[in-house]
Amino acid sequence: MRTDDTARTADGVRRGLSARWFAWLLSHGEGFDREMYGAWKRDLLGPLTGTVVEVGPGGGVNLPYYDADVQWIGVEPNVHFHPRLRKKAAELGLDADVRSGLAERIDLPNASADAVVSTLVLCSVNDLDAALAEIRRVLKPGGVFVFIEHVAAPEASRLCRLQRAIKPLWGVIADGCRPDRETGRRIEAAGFEDVQIERFEAEMPLPVVRPHIAGTARKA
Ligand SMILES: C[S@@+](CC[C@H](N)C(=O)[O-])C[C@H]1O[C@@H](n2cnc3c(N)ncnc32)[C@H](O)[C@@H]1O
Repeated sequence: MRTDDTARTADGVRRGLSARWFAWLLSHGEGFDREMYGAWKRDLLGPLTGTVVEVGPGGGVNLPYYDADVQWIGVEPNVHFHPRLRKKAAELGLDADVRSGLAERIDLPNASADAVVSTLVLCSVNDLDAALAEIRRVLKPGGVFVFIEHVAAPEASRLCRLQRAIKPLWGVIADGCRPDRETGRRIEAAGFEDVQIERFEAEMPLPVVRPHIAGTARKA
């Protein structure tokens, strides 16, 4: 169910009042993001080298964690984030290429990325399996997929029932987010090798988005 005014073109470009509002909202939560995920991001994003493709970078909260020598490509469907991403990357001295597009259809050649990054995005993509297949396709052999995502609570838990009950409303207020997605299980089934997943509870004000996973998966 989607009742907003967000316009989506065939190639996934999103603009409109609700896309603009979401861009504004997300661009003002950087301190909170650092508190919640800073330690994970330093560990997981800091060591990346070469060509790093980030899907759904939003307002660019991850940019400060990258080494200044990476070639960063951001694939972001919400065009209202683009000026901020370019400005922030320039301030950090990062070589950045900001593009429209979707994780499900990344406009890059096979085996062209040393790393692909997704933080708090896979809950929102329409076709998760297609997105994971695309991430694998663009990675070089030996390349790494890095993720931090909020996920479904354990099956049959009270929180899982709440996540399922609230999903239709949540999708409308949180830009298509599905709080009950079993993203970790789907990453494990997506054909990567050496999948390392850690579960943790983020101290979110709303329990529905507290269960998280963070980790890496390598392309053979
Ligand atoms: C909750 S925000 C997370 C932004 C950022 N990664 C972060 O950690 O703050 C979700 C982001 O995913 C983007 N997004 C939604 N659907 C997408 C898709 N199918 N492919 C790529 N990005 C998508 C949204 O535009 C938004 O920037």
